[in-house]
Formats: sequence, structure tokens, C-alpha cells
Amino acid sequence: MDSMRVLIKWAFLAFLISPNLVQGIGVNWGTQASQNMQPSTIIQMLKDNKIDQIKLFDSDHWTVKFFAGTGIEVMLGVPNNHLAELANDYDKAKDWVKENVTKHLYNGGVKIKYIAVGNEPFLKAYNGSNIKTTFPALKNIQKALDEAGHGDKIKVTTPQNADVYESGSNVPSAGNFRSDIKENMIQILKFFEENNSPFLVNIYPFLSLYNNPGFPMEFAFFDGDAKPVQDKGISYTNMFDANLDTLVWSMRKVGIQKMKIIVGEIGWPTEGHVKANVKLAKKFYNGFFKKMATKKGTPLYPGDIEYYLFSLTDENQKSIAPGDFERHWGVFRYDGQPKFPVDFTGQGNDKMPIGAKGIKYMEKEWCVFNGDMKNMTLVPDNLGYACSMGDCTALNYGSSCNKLGSVQANISYAFNMYFQMQNQDVEACNFQGLAKIVKTNASTSECLFPIALESAGTKLWMQTGTSILAGLVVLLSMF
Ligand SMILES: *[C@@H]1O[C@H](CO)[C@@H](O)[C@H](O)[C@H]1NC(C)=O
Ligand SMILES: *[C@@H]1O[C@H](CO)[C@@H](O)[C@H](O)[C@H]1NC(C)=O
Ligand SMILES: *[C@@H]1O[C@H](CO)[C@@H](O)[C@H](O)[C@H]1NC(C)=O
Ligand SMILES: *[C@@H]1O[C@H](CO)[C@@H](O)[C@H](O)[C@H]1NC(C)=O
Ligand SMILES: *[C@@H]1O[C@H](CO)[C@@H](O)[C@H](O)[C@H]1NC(C)=O
Repeated sequence: MDSMRVLIKWAFLAFLISPNLVQGIGVNWGTQASQNMQPSTIIQMLKDNKIDQIKLFDSDHWTVKFFAGTGIEVMLGVPNNHLAELANDYDKAKDWVKENVTKHLYNGGVKIKYIAVGNEPFLKAYNGSNIKTTFPALKNIQKALDEAGHGDKIKVTTPQNADVYESGSNVPSAGNFRSDIKENMIQILKFFEENNSPFLVNIYPFLSLYNNPGFPMEFAFFDGDAKPVQDKGISYTNMFDANLDTLVWSMRKVGIQKMKIIVGEIGWPTEGHVKANVKLAKKFYNGFFKKMATKKGTPLYPGDIEYYLFSLTDENQKSIAPGDFERHWGVFRYDGQPKFPVDFTGQGNDKMPIGAKGIKYMEKEWCVFNGDMKNMTLVPDNLGYACSMGDCTALNYGSSCNKLGSVQANISYAFNMYFQMQNQDVEACNFQGLAKIVKTNASTSECLFPIALESAGTKLWMQTGTSILAGLVVLLSMF
């Protein structure tokens, strides 16, 4: 009897401490939007959809404290522009941990599990600007965590873009870390190994399709309809498996045999490009969740995989330098309403996720073109302004507002986006007399003319440069 009890106790303990115990659902929540939902609304939404892990891109104290007592696991982020000071000054790292971690760790506080130090710091587009600072910043934060007594429970890591490794011949076994950062990667991996830290990688089949017109479309999805890629007796039928195993091979080649890999971002956008739409997003997610539900992992990384969807909601102020789709990664719209049916549990049920509750919108007012088409002289400049400071990405070919059908409607869309993003400021619906505020819904069945969320936080415009470019592109295609 006693031995039985011991056995049960052991089994229970083994279950508790098993690193591969059932993974939940994780999401990224980015807040580069003109208005964001309240953290309390987000938390309810996560609970309603049984999402139990969230990854943030910073560690804003006010936001993080809402997660206290919710049971939701939180990954805090350190933005790239803080890496240098954290790398150069250990006291800064100590202060960072004190203010942004320790304060939340009281009994019943926030379940912080990982600190993501930097975000894709070695991305080729950054021209190496974070190469010298990432590793020292990681070490300083870990040291500060250890000193504060959190080192066992909270691990540092760095989300990397999958461009840190490459495969010359397109088979996973040819994978290797990019030569310009290989030494840095080895240092970081050895450090993760010593500290039991996981490796975070962001995997984007959509971007493979976007960047390579010749990419076999079906290989981006999980339906098994692509021509398989053969590699050392393994048959790869989707890009996710092939990509993750390329990472495993790259690690093996530098002597890392076993390390937890977490997919830091994965998802599919719904606007801004012909391949970015609700139909393909639904296909991608349903395939992905079904695969995750099998808990089979990949050929070289079998078992359950921890992952964070990218993203929870759309962000209308993200830089569109990588492409207009950047503002449309949300599984949910800007206001927390679901875009398409998807079953996070992987059972394939065709039902909508549960949307955000209690959302408060501003007045039912839209800003539209005043309809005088006789003299269009002032239109190009004003439209360019609206698009560069607002968001015209849904007007793109293949996107939901591309077929509005008239120049007036196009202009209205641009004006309204700007007006809403400016919290319905009356001054923001002038455009040298070309615009007027109306109370009739300007939306069509396909194209939503959104109403801003109340409780709007005013944010500085940070991506003006790239937005102006988009504005001009839309402008040129209209005239
Ligand atoms: C805590 O995190 C916030 C948000 O990321 C940051 O602005 C702040 O500087 C951090 N605090 C310290 C003491 O470093
Ligand atoms: C990287 O270099 C390119 C080309 O010189 C430049 O256009 C870009 O702005 C640079 N990016 C950063 C983040 O420094
Ligand atoms: C059109 O409007 C512009 C700006 O108000 C004005 O300068 C121009 O004379 C107008 N053209 C005609 C033909 O009315
Ligand atoms: C509206 O704008 C989109 C995007 O620039 C363009 O493709 C479309 O042809 C425009 N429609 C009209 C009627 O000008
Ligand atoms: C405007 O109309 C669209 C399309 O019918 C609808 O989805 C949206 O909820 C409406 N907006 C408001 C504020 O009533």
C-alpha cells in the first residue's frame, strides 16, 4: 500500500517536473497601434480562448501588473534599443530586473518565465548593429536574475529570426549558422546550454512565399499536398518541419545536441498582399493547430513544441518596410474581434474564436471625401498625407478594400483611417476642405471602415518615413 502511494507520488512529481508536460497555447501581443485594448480586456480574451502564455515586446510595468494572479505565463521583452546600455552597464541590468521582474514576483504575482533579450537582433536588415551588444546584455540580465534569486525559475533567451541559419542546398542537413554571426551564435548557444535556457526562433512560411515567387505554395501549409523534400531518408512535406530541422542541424554542427527550441513567432497575415488573406490564414492555422495537437513535433525535434502565435491583434502603426502585410498579423482584428473560424485545440471545429468583450468604441462617425469631384488638384497631396500618417494597406491589390469601386471611396477610406487613428479629432477630418464627418457607416460588406477604440492612448508616430512611401505607392496607383 505504502509503496503504491510512493509510486503514485513519484508519478505525480515526475508529471509536475517533466519539461515536456503538455504545452499550452501562446500568443504574442504587440502594441504598435494607434489605440490598444486594455490589458484586462486582453486577459479575459486569453482566458475565454484558453490561451495561457503571452509574449510581450517590452516590460511596461503598468501592463505587466495586470497579469498578477491570472495564471497566465508571461514572457517579458527587452527592445533592441536597450541592448547597448544593458550590455555596457551591469547596474542598469540590475535595475531592470529589480523594477521589471522582482516587483512582480510577490506571492500571487505575475508568472514570469522567460525574458526575451532583444528581438531578432541579428536580422540581416539591422546591418550587424546588435551583434556586439546582444550576448553581453543576455549575460548581464541572467547574472542579475541569479543574484536576485530568480535564476532557477526565469530564463533569458533571445528570439531570433530564422535568417540566423541557412541551407545552401535547401535541405535541412545542409543547415548552418550564417557565417557573419556564427561565432556569436556559438557563444550564445553555449551560454544557453549552461543556463538551461531555450532557443527561440521565429518561423514564417508566409515570408518564404512572399520573398520567393517560385516557392512551392503548398509547402508553406500542412496539408501534405506539396512535393516532399527528401533529406537523408526523411521526407519533408512542409516548410515548418524543414525549417526547424535546419536549425537542429545547425546546432548539431556547432556541438549542441539537445536544447529546448521554442517557436517565438508563427502566423499568417490577412491583408496587404495577394497571399495575405483570411482564406490562406485559416488554412495555415488549421493545419498548424492540427499538427500541434498530434504532439509529434518534427522529424528531428519530436514531441510537444512550445509556440507563440504572431499575433493576437493587428497593429496599424507597425513599420511596413518589410511589406504592407506587417499591420495585419492578428488572429483578431484591432478591436479583438475574430477574423475567421479557427480551432486552437487542433480538433478542426469550424467555429469563431471568442472575441474581446466590453469593447468601447468612439462615436459612430466616419470621415469621408466630401464628394466634389470637379477640382481634384488638392487630392494627391492630401491623400498622400492621409496614407503616410494613417494606414492604407488594406487598399492593396488582393486586400479587402481594393474593390471599393470608386476613386471617391478610395479617398474616403484613406481619410477615415487617418481620422480614426487621430482619435476622431475634428481637425483630422479637414484635408483642406476635401473631407467631412458623416454619421452613416461608410463600410461595405467586404471593407470595414473602422471606428477607433475609446480609451485611446496617443502615441508618437515612429514609422513616418516608411509610411510616406506606402502613401505614395497608393497615390501613384490611383492617378
Ligand atoms: C523596465 O521596462 C520598461 C519597459 O520596457 C523600461 O522602459 C524601463 O526602463 C525598465 N526599467 C529599468 C529600471 O530599466
Ligand atoms: C542597413 O543598411 C542599408 C543599406 O546601406 C540601409 O538602407 C539601412 O537603413 C540600414 N539599416 C539599419 C537598421 O541601419
Ligand atoms: C482647383 O483648386 C485649386 C486649389 O484650391 C485652385 O488653385 C485652382 O484654381 C482650381 N482649379 C479650377 C479649374 O477651378
Ligand atoms: C482604389 O485604390 C486601389 C489601391 O491603390 C487601386 O488598386 C484601385 O484601382 C482604386 N480604385 C479606383 C476606382 O480608383
Ligand atoms: C459598419 O458596417 C459594417 C459592414 O456592414 C459592419 O461590420 C460594422 O459593424 C458597422 N459599423 C458600425 C459602427 O455600426
